[in-house]
Amino acid sequence: MDLIFATHNPNKVLEVQKQLDQSFNILALSDLDYHTEIPEPYETLEENALQKAKTISRVFKKICFSDDTGLFVPALNGAPGVYSARYAGPKASAVENMEKLCAAMELKQDRRAYFKTVIALQTLKGFHFFEGMVWGTIAREPVGTGGFGYDPIFIPQGYDQSFAMLPQKIKQEIGHRGKAIRALTSFLKTL
Ligand code: IMP
Repeated sequence: MDLIFATHNPNKVLEVQKQLDQSFNILALSDLDYHTEIPEPYETLEENALQKAKTISRVFKKICFSDDTGLFVPALNGAPGVYSARYAGPKASAVENMEKLCAAMELKQDRRAYFKTVIALQTLKGFHFFEGMVWGTIAREPVGTGGFGYDPIFIPQGYDQSFAMLPQKIKQEIGHRGKAIRALTSFLKTL
């Protein structure tokens, strides 16, 4: 089955490709030569993910899914949350976002945080949501070179290394996107 993954992020495509079985042929936007930025104008992960999936499904007339992810920190009232990509500014790099978050957390005792991914699937008949979460803590400074985004400052519960230090396989097993992808896969098998 052909499935479009509406993302421009090659790291996300890799993570997802590794988890879906052979019966699904993932087409990334780069495979389709689609380079237009898809806006994320909403205040919820659900709305942003659905907007991306709907837009691309309409353009290519195929089943399409998209994810939107945020890092939520209770001590910062849920920030950066749905604004995780642009926490340090509209074109902020991962390093700038992590620096801002580490500074905001400097005096905080409660260092808990969770990643949440929402996947929106747009079929030719309607849409469905799938989600995954993982709790952990925010490190004092970035450590590790693997992963992407906030991975170097996120230490998942039960581990003492960041997602950027742990093997990819562990991130897939316990991580937010992996859980959401498994929920999506179970559903796709019922179609
Ligand atoms: P989006 O889902 O691409 O909008 O991601 C929002 C922000 O969260 C971006 O800054 C991403 O780099 C970051 N992000 C998304 N997924 C992950 C992840 O699995 N690990 C670390 N950061 C992530």
